[in-house]
Amino acid sequence: MGSRIQVWLLIVFTQILFIAAQTNSDDLAALHAIKSSWQNLPPSWKGSDPCGSSWDGIACTNSHVTSIKLAGVLVSGSQFGDIASFTNLQFLDLSNNIGLKGTLPPSIGNLKNLTTLFFGPIPDSIGSLQLLVFLALNSNSFSGPIPPSIGNLLNLSWLDLSDNQLNGTIPVSSGPTPGLDMLIKAKHFVFDNNQLTGNIPRTLGLVQTLEMVRLDWNSLNGSVPLNLNNLTSVSELYLSNNKLTGPLPNLTGMNFLTYV
Ligand SMILES: *[C@@H]1O[C@H](CO)[C@@H](O)[C@H](O)[C@H]1NC(C)=O
Ligand SMILES: *[C@@H]1O[C@H](CO)[C@@H](O)[C@H](O)[C@H]1NC(C)=O
Ligand SMILES: *[C@@H]1O[C@H](CO)[C@@H](O)[C@H](O)[C@H]1NC(C)=O
Ligand SMILES: *[C@@H]1O[C@H](CO)[C@@H](O)[C@H](O)[C@H]1NC(C)=O
Ligand SMILES: *[C@@H]1O[C@H](CO)[C@@H](O)[C@H](O)[C@H]1NC(C)=O
Ligand SMILES: *[C@@H]1O[C@H](CO)[C@@H](O)[C@H](O)[C@H]1NC(C)=O
Repeated sequence: MGSRIQVWLLIVFTQILFIAAQTNSDDLAALHAIKSSWQNLPPSWKGSDPCGSSWDGIACTNSHVTSIKLAGVLVSGSQFGDIASFTNLQFLDLSNNIGLKGTLPPSIGNLKNLTTLFFGPIPDSIGSLQLLVFLALNSNSFSGPIPPSIGNLLNLSWLDLSDNQLNGTIPVSSGPTPGLDMLIKAKHFVFDNNQLTGNIPRTLGLVQTLEMVRLDWNSLNGSVPLNLNNLTSVSELYLSNNKLTGPLPNLTGMNFLTYV
C-alpha cells in the first residue's frame, strides 16, 4: 500500500514539475551540456528549469533562452559545441573570462537573431549574422587575419578588435570579396594594439558614418589616404605608433574632430 502511494505521489510530482517547467527542451539540453563541461558556473545553475528558476546570467522569452551574460565571472572551459542550439539567442557575452578558451563553432552563423556578441575568435561564418550591431572582440589573444566576411554585417555600428594579435591587412572589398569598407553604418572602428600591416585603405574614406577611428599601435605603412578628411563625423582619429609616412590630410572641414 505504502509503495503504491509513493508511486502515485511520484507521478503527481513529476507532472507538477513537467507543467511548471518553463524552459524549451533544446535550450535546456544545451545549457546542461555547458554546465557539464564548464567550471565555476554560478551556484544558481541548479535544477531543470533555467528559465523558470532564473539561473544567473540566463534570460528567457517565451521559454527560449534569449540572453547569456557570463562576462567576467571566472568561468572556464573549452567546449562550445551546443551554443548554436539557442535558436532565439540575441545577446551573448562571454568576455573577460581568462579560463574560457577555444573557438565558437561555425554553426554560430545560424543564430540569426543575435544582435550582440562579446567573445571570440570567431569563424568566417560571423558574416551571416545579419542583425549584429555591436561586435566587441577586444582584449583577447586572437591572432590571424580580420575575417573579410565581417564586411557582410551591414548593420554593424560598433566594431572593436583592439588589443589582440591580429595580423595581415585591413580587409577591403573587391569584386565578390567583402571588406570593412562596406560597413556603411559603422561609427566605431577600433583596431588599435594589434599587428596589422599594409596600408590604410583609401576606401576607409567611404565609411562616412565613422565617429571614432583607432588604428594606433599597429605596423601599418605607406602614406595616410588624403581622403580621410571625407570622414567629417569623426571626433577621434588615432594613427600614432605605426610606420606611416608622408603628409597628413588637410583636416579643414572635419569639424567634429577633437583628437588626432
Ligand atoms: C527570431 O526571433 C523572432 C521573434 O523575435 C522569432 O519569431 C524567430 O523565430 C526567431 N528566429 C529564429 C531563427 O529563431
Ligand atoms: C538590418 O537590420 C534590420 C532590422 O533592424 C533587418 O531588417 C535588415 O535585414 C538588416 N540588414 C541587413 C543587411 O542584414
Ligand atoms: C599571422 O600570424 C600567424 C601566427 O599567429 C602566422 O602564421 C601568419 O603567417 C601571420 N600572417 C601574416 C600576414 O603576417
Ligand atoms: C566620400 O564619401 C562618399 C560617401 O561614401 C563617397 O561617395 C565619396 O566618393 C567619398 N569621397 C572621397 C574623396 O573619397
Ligand atoms: C608596407 O609593408 C609591406 C610588408 O608588410 C611591404 O610589402 C610594402 O612594400 C610596404 N609598403 C610601403 C609603401 O612601405
Ligand atoms: C585645406 O582645405 C581648405 C578648404 O577645404 C583650404 O581653404 C585650405 O587652403 C587647405 N589647406 C591646405 C594646406 O591645403
